[in-house]
Amino acid sequence: MKLAVTGKGGVGKTTVSALLARALRKSGRTVFAIDADPDSNLAASMGYPHPEQIRPLVELKELIEERTGVKPGTTGGMFRLNPFVEDIPERYAVDIDGVKVLVAGAVKKGGAGCYCPENTMIRALISHLLTEKNSALVLDMEAGIEHLSRGTLTAVDQLIVVTEPGRRSVETAERIAQMAAEIGLNRVSVIGNRVRSEDDRAFLKETLPQMDFIGFLPYDQAVRDAEIAGRSVASASAQMEALVADVIKKLEQRTR
Ligand SMILES: Nc1ncnc2c1ncn2[C@@H]1O[C@H](COP(=O)(O)OP(=O)(O)OP(=O)(O)O)[C@@H](O)[C@H]1O
Ligand SMILES: [Mg+2]
Repeated sequence: MKLAVTGKGGVGKTTVSALLARALRKSGRTVFAIDADPDSNLAASMGYPHPEQIRPLVELKELIEERTGVKPGTTGGMFRLNPFVEDIPERYAVDIDGVKVLVAGAVKKGGAGCYCPENTMIRALISHLLTEKNSALVLDMEAGIEHLSRGTLTAVDQLIVVTEPGRRSVETAERIAQMAAEIGLNRVSVIGNRVRSEDDRAFLKETLPQMDFIGFLPYDQAVRDAEIAGRSVASASAQMEALVADVIKKLEQRTR
């Protein structure tokens, strides 16, 4: 099962990604999780003790040069658009509670759409893991989907849009669904996060009537406490784990 998690900034994408990855792992799958947000914090959210010690892939200059044929930071050269990346997941992933976590990191120059060797390698890696049959993938994205290539988007089993009960994040969710529809992707589902009441749930359903809600997660103080203490947000709350396991079951039915 290949999932990409998106939504407005701060709605809980990383928290939901961590929970989904853990639930997939608990279901017996081999699971890769890619932190594709330049402001990486998935490993920290999963309780990795020294997240700052993980070298983001974009910083592996020698590897990038070896695989793409171009030294990162240089421009103009011809580089391989399909670099060999098959060995990278196993070699560079950090094991966190059985989930293999890869940190993409931030490309300093050129912006999200840059055709630099760093991005080329990350894109190749994502598409490799998206097509690899024997493992599940969770992509923790930066806010929005503008930076997601069409190829990546159309290869996911589900685009999971996280939204909280609030105008701004609901508007972003709508915009994401619209952009997805424009490229023909209709495998989009929504998780309502930090839902504190029936009114919150009703607000989400009413403001996003067309969207397919696959789950609602409450505001859970244990999650917040775990994040602050540097423990895994994915195993902080049995209630959250059960709700996300249920989301996975529903996703399994949809992707069958
Ligand atoms: N259901 C929840 N209950 C309690 N706290 C939550 C919940 N979901 C997320 N949080 C908290 O909200 C904050 C933002 O969550 P998170 O980092 O997952 O959001 P994000 O969408 O990944 O943010 P960014 O756009 O910065 O990447 C964190 O402090 C997290 O612990
Ligand atoms: Mg995040």
